[in-house]
Amino acid sequence: MVVSNEPLSTGSTYGGSSIGAGETHAAAGPDTDVIATSAVSVDETRALVEPKTPDLSVFGPDIVAKAAQQIATYPESRSALLPMLHLVQSVEGYVSQAGIQFCANQLSLSTAEVSAVVTFYTMYKRKPCGEHLVSVCTNTLCAMLGGDAIYERLTQHLSDDGTPLKHEDTAGTPGEPGSITIEHAECLAACDLGPVLQVNYEFYDNQTVDTAVSLVDALRRGEKPAPTRGAPLTDLKTVELELAGFYPEDEAEFRTMVDGPSAAVETLRGAQLAADRGWTAPAMPEKAPELPEVEKK
Ligand code: FES
Repeated sequence: MVVSNEPLSTGSTYGGSSIGAGETHAAAGPDTDVIATSAVSVDETRALVEPKTPDLSVFGPDIVAKAAQQIATYPESRSALLPMLHLVQSVEGYVSQAGIQFCANQLSLSTAEVSAVVTFYTMYKRKPCGEHLVSVCTNTLCAMLGGDAIYERLTQHLSDDGTPLKHEDTAGTPGEPGSITIEHAECLAACDLGPVLQVNYEFYDNQTVDTAVSLVDALRRGEKPAPTRGAPLTDLKTVELELAGFYPEDEAEFRTMVDGPSAAVETLRGAQLAADRGWTAPAMPEKAPELPEVEKK
């Protein structure tokens, strides 16, 4: 059976029946393989097939200038796509259809090419995010040490109505102070400090269910508890601007934003043990061994 909502504004022949202007296929004859739905005009059909051009006014001259700066950093303009997506995320808190169109316009790419990148990387969000993004590591080691329990508890604790939040759901109104988007994350490269979580990509190490709940409660109250390591906590949009490559020019202000404790005692433990015991890595041979012949196929 053919279901047709094709516009029938001109006479045509379909299934052996002549169809006149204004008729539907069903009205055109006894062909029971064709049924009419509704007559849709050409303009209506076009509106369905061609998405509306998104409103790009949210990306003002300052953002266009920043995009130009990013493009100038690379020999090929398309190489600026990854930081440019962070730039648009710093404006809207996610990569909207307008953000995709903006990047495509700046880089002479198709929206399909930009979309392919956006949907590949998990740091690009397709839904508006909260003031803060809380990422709980639920990869194997953290999960076994309590990461699964932390994630489960936070998704319940942040819920308004008792229904646990899902991956990338937001508690509160996205973008508003105190709003939190929660996600589970793959290994955050801090397995020696698990279970870990991040807020706007800053680390909170050695978490428990209770410390994680206290942390999100503080965020909802508008506080910014100091991360265990790394830069002081800000908010997701500010971090996105940093990921796009933009920092304050004033050195003191810049230092305030990025300086913080870095290496953890746990991470350095192996190097410390080796130093205490005089262990060293074997020296490299003066002449590198010949590589084996690769068998030709
Ligand atoms: S498993 Fe969580 S940081 Fe590696």
